[in-house]
Amino acid sequence: MSTLKIAIQKSGRLSEKSSQLLRGCGISLSNGPKALKAKSDNFPLEILFLRDDDIPQYVAEGVADLGIVGANVIEEKQSNVSKSLPLGFAKCRLSLAIPKNENYSDLSYFDGKKIATSYPVILNSFLKEKGLSCSIEQISGSVEIAPGIGLAQGICDIVSTGSTLLQNGLKEVATIYESQAILISNPRLSPELLALAEQLQFRIEAVLAARKNKYILLNTPNESIEAISQLLPGMKSPTLLPLAQPGWSSLHSVVSENEFWPVISALKELGAEGILVTSIEKMIR
Ligand code: PRP
Ligand code: ZN
Repeated sequence: MSTLKIAIQKSGRLSEKSSQLLRGCGISLSNGPKALKAKSDNFPLEILFLRDDDIPQYVAEGVADLGIVGANVIEEKQSNVSKSLPLGFAKCRLSLAIPKNENYSDLSYFDGKKIATSYPVILNSFLKEKGLSCSIEQISGSVEIAPGIGLAQGICDIVSTGSTLLQNGLKEVATIYESQAILISNPRLSPELLALAEQLQFRIEAVLAARKNKYILLNTPNESIEAISQLLPGMKSPTLLPLAQPGWSSLHSVVSENEFWPVISALKELGAEGILVTSIEKMIR
C-alpha cells in the first residue's frame, strides 16, 4: 500500500500552523518535535520536516508528493509543482524598505540604487514591470542589516508584523507581492498517491471551511423566523425547534466569520435573544 509524503517547514513562520492543520484533519503525528520525519498511524501519510526554501524542489522532484510552503517561495523558485490550495495562514508580504530617515516619494527613489534581497526573481520581474533599473544584491539571510552595513541602499524582504524592519531602523515603502501558505503537489503523482492526496485535500478543505464559519443558535419570536432565515440561510436552510414558551423558536444556522458582526445587530433588531455562537470543527458541504 502506498504512503503519501508531505513536506512541511521544520521551524519558522509556517511550521506550527502546518502541523496544526494536519492534526485538525484527524491525522495523528506521533514523533517528537526534533525528528525530521514522522509517520501517521491513522492515515497513510509520512511528514518530512524541511527548510521551507527546499520544499518546492523536493516536491518538484517527487521526493515529497505534497508540500506546505509560502506562495512567495513558490514564486521565487519557479519549480514545476501544482499549486493545489491556498491555506489562509502565514500571511505576509514581500516589500521594499529603506532607512527610516530617508525621504521617499515614489518608486523612482530606487532608480540606480542597489537593493539587497533573498528574492531576486520576484524583485527582478517587479523592477522590469515598473521600468526601474536597479542592481540586485542577492543574499540568503539577515537581509535587514544590509543598509546599515553599507551593502545596499534598500532591501526587499518578507514583512509580517513589521518588527524586524522596526528593530533595524527601516521603513516599508512598497509591497511587491502578497503571500500566504499554499498546498503544492507533484504534478505526476501515481493514481494511488493521487487518490490519497485528494482524500487529504478534502479533509483540509473541510477544516478551512470550518475555520471561516461559525455555528449560531438563537431564540426568535415566531414572526421574525422568515426575516432571520433570510439573514442566516446556513448551508441549506436554518434548523428550527419550537421553544417550550409559546410563540418562540430556537433557530440554528451557520454564518461566515466576515458577515458575523453586521448580522448580529440586524438579528437583535428583529427581536432575536439568547444568541450563542460557537466554532465549527469540520464543515462538509
Ligand atoms: C522573514 C524576514 C524577516 C522576518 C520578518 O524571514 O526575513 O526576518 O521574516 O517578519 P516580521 O515582519 O514579523 O518581523 P522568514 O521568517 O521568512 O525566514 P526565512 O527567510 O529564514 O525562511
Ligand atoms: Zn526560509
